[in-house]
Amino acid sequence: MGIAAEITDDWHVALAALAWQVEAGADEAVGDLPINRYELAAEAPKPAVPAPTSPKPQSPPTGFGIDPVSAAQAAAAGAQTLDDLREVIASFDLCELKKGARNTVFADGNPKARVLILGEAPGAEEDREGRPFVGRAGQLLDRMFAAIGLSRTSPDPETALYITNVLPWRPPGNRDPEPAEIAMMRPFVERHIALVDPAVIVVMGNTPLDALTGHRGILRARGNWTQALGKPLLPMTHPAYLLRNPSAKREAWADLLSLQARLSP
Ligand code: URA
Repeated sequence: MGIAAEITDDWHVALAALAWQVEAGADEAVGDLPINRYELAAEAPKPAVPAPTSPKPQSPPTGFGIDPVSAAQAAAAGAQTLDDLREVIASFDLCELKKGARNTVFADGNPKARVLILGEAPGAEEDREGRPFVGRAGQLLDRMFAAIGLSRTSPDPETALYITNVLPWRPPGNRDPEPAEIAMMRPFVERHIALVDPAVIVVMGNTPLDALTGHRGILRARGNWTQALGKPLLPMTHPAYLLRNPSAKREAWADLLSLQARLSP
């Protein structure tokens, strides 16, 4: 009884510890045994020669004179091509999310596409691969748009998709992006859309709806065409929401048909 109780307790404690790590953003095991890094630091031999004291170049702290939104506007305005924009985003250091991300997830698909899809932010798989919408939600997204003849791999602008996100870096533990993060990256999104110059924009979920219209409430907004950045914009529910709520696929299908009708000559 005593042993069984201990095993059960250990199991629950271990499960709770694992859940906590996942919540904090851990998505991969990097070793078989735990390492106590506090002990390592205490045991580490002191350097014989004092380390040079000159400060390492660091990104300027926010709140000390640099307004990240103005910095993003200036950087985005300087990008004349998509390659420029990819570079300026990758070297933008004022967003904390970048520090925890493996990759800057810029975009995928055909830049000449008539339809630009704007998502929220990379998840774990997108962060690993460096491409938007490649996980389970992304696979559903591909199937949804394939059903109306659109694909990110199509070389023909008429049937192609271009896909990007409001945030190019994964928020830890897939938490919702914060308003300050959305505001900071918005100038890049605007420049991105101006450079691709699609005929229509489709926003998937609340974050991109908010970024482009200043409103949330995707369940009310979905299917209702509006305008943003001088372009027709269709709000749709996010494919991750559809995976959790399969009954909402019916409305998503109606939205896809509305998009198809809009694109027909
Ligand atoms: N969800 C998004 O909004 N974007 C991605 O790239 C992946 C999942």
